[in-house]
Amino acid sequence: SLPVANVQALASNNSGDIPIRYLRPELQSEEVLVDESPHIPHIDMRKLMVDDDEMEKLHFACKDWGFFQLINHGVEEVIEKMKMDVQEFFKLPLEEKNAYARPPNNIEGYGQAFVVSQDQKLDWGDRLFLLPLPASLRNLRLWPENPTSFRETLDNYSSELHRVSIKLLRSMAKNLGVNPDKLASMFEDGTQGVRMNYYPPCLHADKVMGLTPHSDATGLTLLVQVNEVQGLQIKKNGKWVPIKPIPDALVVNIGDIIEIMSNGEYKSIEHRVVVNPEKERLSIAAFHSPDHRTMIGPLPDLIKENSANYKTTSHDDFIQITVTRKLDGKSLLGQMKF
Ligand code: SIN
Ligand code: FE2
Repeated sequence: SLPVANVQALASNNSGDIPIRYLRPELQSEEVLVDESPHIPHIDMRKLMVDDDEMEKLHFACKDWGFFQLINHGVEEVIEKMKMDVQEFFKLPLEEKNAYARPPNNIEGYGQAFVVSQDQKLDWGDRLFLLPLPASLRNLRLWPENPTSFRETLDNYSSELHRVSIKLLRSMAKNLGVNPDKLASMFEDGTQGVRMNYYPPCLHADKVMGLTPHSDATGLTLLVQVNEVQGLQIKKNGKWVPIKPIPDALVVNIGDIIEIMSNGEYKSIEHRVVVNPEKERLSIAAFHSPDHRTMIGPLPDLIKENSANYKTTSHDDFIQITVTRKLDGKSLLGQMKF
């Protein structure tokens, strides 16, 4: 990985000039339009447990959208606390944040996206990425101690969101017609990464990108839009659809691993983040993946004779592919397809 400038610092002494590596000329000529009209499905977690219609809605959301807003999930308080502490962290002076800087060849820590070449375009944002689960492998040296509650808050956030992800996976398994215990057991001792994102405002917001279009390589993502500044957009029918921030909702999306495990029935959708000209934006993404022993491939219950649409690989090999590539649409899924 190569060192990259801090974007928050870059934005704060803004002369109006944007370094060339952040400029995306393709955005000016882009054929793909933004469509404000569609609304992603809302899933009520409390209803999901008792209501067949809500289960059907979930199945449709996973097949047709790959994204939904989860409400009534019961973890509102933990989310509020996490939002506060993340905002506090990014307000710290740069030197203090840099105490948790990502060490070379490490994916955890504070800094910028993993950059693999000198000419790679850069995203207009900084992040703090940590791996809270499995808990035994935590790298606490990179967990902020300021604000003082940060570690405890992230610890609670991590376990509560993991619990929600398992509940959702059980419902998805029922909908797919596979054994819920089997799918849940793959994720029970799985990995969880939490990426806290800070996107500064940019006077030339239409010429930069907060986060390059990509699909999530992981299993199931639970995202919080911290300060209700819109920025996340998903690709739907060839257009970019903005995801409205809803206070307290979790934006849930299917990652590549669930698309593969569902043999393509559920969709891992391409998404990106655009930057606001006046306001900073913050978000917290929690990525859930199976444990390292799990083979990544279509679930055996879902493949009748010769009907596997994806290859099967070890989880370690799968991760190796994901960390060494740069974000590039759905290139990874392409490699896994037959
Ligand atoms: C992500 O795609 O992981 C981040 C999305 C966001 O910042 O809203
Ligand atoms: Fe993502």
